[in-house]
Amino acid sequence: MLSTAAQHNAAQSDLAFQRCINPNCAATYETMSIRTSCDRCGDLLDIAYDWDRAAVPGQLSDFEAMWSQRNNPVRFSGVWRFHELLPFAPQSKIVTVGEGQTLLQQADEVAKYVGLNPGQLHLQYEGMNPSGSFKDNGMCAAVTHAGMMEAQRAACASTGNTSASLALYCSATRAMKAVIFIGSGKISYGKLSQALDYGALTVQIAGDFDDAMIRVKEIAKKLGIYLVNSVNPFRLEGQKTIMFRVLEALRWEVPDWIVVPGGNLGNSSAFGKAFSELYQHGLIDRIPRLAVINARGANTLHELVQKHGVKWNGGNVSMEPITQYNESMDRDGKRADTIASAIEINRPVNLNKCLRALEVMDGVVREVDDQQILDAKSQVGAGGFGCEPASAASVAGAKLLRSEGVIAPSDRVVCILTGHELKDPTATVAYHSSDRELFEKTLGSRGVTEANYANRAVPVANELSAIIDAIEQHS
Ligand code: F0G
Repeated sequence: MLSTAAQHNAAQSDLAFQRCINPNCAATYETMSIRTSCDRCGDLLDIAYDWDRAAVPGQLSDFEAMWSQRNNPVRFSGVWRFHELLPFAPQSKIVTVGEGQTLLQQADEVAKYVGLNPGQLHLQYEGMNPSGSFKDNGMCAAVTHAGMMEAQRAACASTGNTSASLALYCSATRAMKAVIFIGSGKISYGKLSQALDYGALTVQIAGDFDDAMIRVKEIAKKLGIYLVNSVNPFRLEGQKTIMFRVLEALRWEVPDWIVVPGGNLGNSSAFGKAFSELYQHGLIDRIPRLAVINARGANTLHELVQKHGVKWNGGNVSMEPITQYNESMDRDGKRADTIASAIEINRPVNLNKCLRALEVMDGVVREVDDQQILDAKSQVGAGGFGCEPASAASVAGAKLLRSEGVIAPSDRVVCILTGHELKDPTATVAYHSSDRELFEKTLGSRGVTEANYANRAVPVANELSAIIDAIEQHS
């Protein structure tokens, strides 16, 4: 039974409803309910809208008018600036901490590394969000819905960034209490420090991310805690805006490729939905291609799509190869293992939605190893603002697709850099260090043999002439 305040929220959010993504089921549920899967068939849910009654602008450039409303926190937000394209909440209920002030950088040095013509590679820095990753795009949407439902507690399982984001929204808005589940020894200190500092209740379970994910779903149900993992369909509504901002930065021109790392597959799913809706509204005249890049040590999507031919198939996903693959992983005791800890995931929860996005965006899936990831990361650092290891999978993937000829040198490519450089300094320092022991301990076990682009610190005696000599010699 909804309280009077919750009923009021419901009255203002009647444009939206939840709908099962399986077109053969398509069961619908009201916005004012908390669910992460379809009651009838168990598949994932979308947020759908009665677009005929929505105030969708006639052209994307109409959103530029919002820039002059920066004093209004809703329009200052790089997510809620596009409220008309995710109209599930009344304005009065919107939660924002100023997320989405991110940058699209034309990165010509990195373009050279990838093999693209000058001017053709753009890097979308989502690490510039308040908690340092793209998660804030979705978290403000999930926390908004949680608030509409008058939730007192919100929970997630995380490889570190979702938890940092939830913890930040809870500390900054005081709206609810954050309960986060993390695996043991699997989270970088940068991310763990955020959850602790923001005061989240941090439950470190003996297991990895997938174990934590299973538990958090169970606990959320049992204790009535609002779940903000990307199985929450409201979260992905917020993540659509990453694509809106990419288009905005390209003056509303559609690029040829969007390249994104794949972990739990929330981003890729949200991007597919974003472009399919923009196309449906007639706001764009073509849809870019999507490349989802797995780390080789966490390559479930790649295995399923490339080796087992799993596809969306108009909603008729063949579940047998997926079940068999999961069973074989359990039988062989295979667990995800990659330096890109953010995407160290065995069973991506948004698999079906991602398959749909691959169909909508004529997508491809590739895997890159930790050596390729760290080399690409060093190039992003040297030619841009830097990123965390998982993010660099996108640049390594673009390079791979260029070398295969799938991406042409003249294509316009946008790589999504999902997390900030400082999220995981351990991997960066080990890569650049001349301390071979540190290198081996941190990276060697992951099959990284060389730091091909290492920028080593220069040891020097504390003497003026020695310091001057060192500078002259190395610059
Ligand atoms: N990049 C970073 C930096 C991430 O933190 C994540 C996911 C991904 C990429 C993968 O994105 O799940 O949308 O495919 N991190 C989650 C977390 C799992 O718990 O922070 P995805």
